[in-house]
Amino acid sequence: MKSFTGAAVSPEQLDKIIRAGMAAPTAVNKQPWSFVIVTDKKKIDELAAGLPTARGIDKAGAVIIVCTEPNKAYLQSKDFAIIDASLASENILLATEAMGLGGHWTASYPYEDKMKHVRTVLGIPTGVIPLNVILVGVPTGEDKPKEKYQRIKSIGENGSQRNSIHFHNAKND
Ligand SMILES: Cc1cc2nc3c(=O)[nH]c(=O)nc-3n(C[C@H](O)[C@H](O)[C@H](O)COP(=O)(O)O)c2cc1C
Repeated sequence: MKSFTGAAVSPEQLDKIIRAGMAAPTAVNKQPWSFVIVTDKKKIDELAAGLPTARGIDKAGAVIIVCTEPNKAYLQSKDFAIIDASLASENILLATEAMGLGGHWTASYPYEDKMKHVRTVLGIPTGVIPLNVILVGVPTGEDKPKEKYQRIKSIGENGSQRNSIHFHNAKND
């Protein structure tokens, strides 16, 4: 979802969205995330200037940067930090949809140049990873969900099938 009208997103809506983000599971409940919410159009434009792949950012009502800190994650693991923040991000995306808004993940991590830009514009310390820049806005209605469900991923030249879903049951054992 990345076609937005440009309308604002209210503080109450943003609070609800962040609550959904914080409700996500984290390894050993460490909650290594933090969230930067930007509604100021000038600041969003500053972010956009260094994020050429952030399609739709010009019409977003707000952007949320989901940050994560390996130091605060289980086993001080960067992997856990990224997994935990990704789950919070997905909850944010689901909450926007459920509220009749639109949400769209745009990249920061793992691109050094993008993370540096986001840190510089928002004053985020180096130990903190800005995982993404999630665009939030009022949808124009032109984006339609993509059909992604597929039992068979591809069929090879010799007719062999590559499946996306594998059922294991007693017969397979
Ligand atoms: C790690 C990650 C990075 C992404 N980076 C970008 C991005 O920089 N720009 C963008 O427009 N979309 C980005 N996306 C969104 C994907 O392009 C999008 O989810 C995918 O095309 C499927 O479309 P859908 O989410 O509308 O179903 C990113 C998604 C993920 C998970």
